Amino acid sequence: MTYRVVRIPGDGVGPEVLAAGRSVLDAAATTFGFSIEWTDIVVGGGAIDAFGVPIREEDLELARTSDAVYLGAIGGPRWDDPSAPVRPEQALFALRGGLELFANLRPVTVHPALVHSSPVRADLLEGVDLLIVRELTSGLYFGRPSEERATADGRVAVDTLWYTDGEIRRVARLAFELARGRSKRLTSVDKANVLASSRLWRKVVDELRPDYPDVEVEHRLVDATAMLLVKRPASFDVLVTENLFGDILSDEASVLAGSLGMLPSASVGDRRTAHGLHGLYEPIHGSAPHMAGTDRANPIGAILSGAMLCRWSLGREDAAAAIESAVSRALDDGVRTADLMPRDEEGLERVGTAGMAEAIVARLGAPVLGSPVLGAPVLGDPIAGPAR
Ligand code: IPM
Ligand code: MG
Repeated sequence: MTYRVVRIPGDGVGPEVLAAGRSVLDAAATTFGFSIEWTDIVVGGGAIDAFGVPIREEDLELARTSDAVYLGAIGGPRWDDPSAPVRPEQALFALRGGLELFANLRPVTVHPALVHSSPVRADLLEGVDLLIVRELTSGLYFGRPSEERATADGRVAVDTLWYTDGEIRRVARLAFELARGRSKRLTSVDKANVLASSRLWRKVVDELRPDYPDVEVEHRLVDATAMLLVKRPASFDVLVTENLFGDILSDEASVLAGSLGMLPSASVGDRRTAHGLHGLYEPIHGSAPHMAGTDRANPIGAILSGAMLCRWSLGREDAAAAIESAVSRALDDGVRTADLMPRDEEGLERVGTAGMAEAIVARLGAPVLGSPVLGAPVLGDPIAGPAR
């Protein structure tokens, strides 16, 4: 079996972490007897330089007709001028919106060997295993108008926080389904004491409750949730929230895992291919331009995104679980990138981006029962998918 995956190395450290991720995916494919046909496309800052646009229509079409999209990172200071008419990030929105990837899944687990890499107290990190489901194609990121205007009172800028009940329902339903496959607890996060869009969000979530009597639902305000994510992170299971709230809370939650570089993500909608859900997979860290080309970036977020790609879009649970176990074993064995190891420590081996990928490839094999598996319990049954 050959799967077709479109690769978007992108800007900054994107190409390095994606090369690392590709080597792990290719090795897993060999282990499990399949192959991946890669098509690279230039998107983001690189595309602005080469073609004058953040993403070309024909490249969006390649992404749409693939089995999955694997992305490194997009953006950088070179393209950051606030008055520039085109920005690299527009490519992300074109991909998310154009491929209808309305849900962004960000699992956060804490590997036992990394509890001391987090600034959060070790006893609070015990048992942390949460999944943020961020709405990805509406809300403040997509609402119109979004512009600056010259008025008699000076310059005015407006952004629009817009949600239809349908947009809320489809992402909330997916979150209910995911909660059902985990510990059956769902936290819906909003700002219903202030925002009309949040009050609609609450109503729609409540309307879905009868379909999921086995799932315990709580509503929480986003400010209190931000506090509780640090104070008692282990009390959360699945969180579902509006686009911007999810963006902010997921960076906050990444601190629990020891480094932003650890966290993978999957963006999915409800379009299916022959093998699973169509989706886009990327680490949640950005392009980290100061580190680009130095072989210092942590590729684990990209590698675990590759595992999610196998599970959700290719229907290859075997490869996904094996990659997750191999990452766990490398960490158990003391292999660390610089972000996970600020000082040299006895028993730990400091490696670069490529070195971490090699350490993980060397540990690929059938998953060992009982070894902690990063991100594995998160995903329910991707092939059965949400019931509709
Ligand atoms: C993310 C990033 C993007 C976002 C940026 C780069 C536009 O922060 O994927 O979380 O805000 O969605
Ligand atoms: Mg973000």
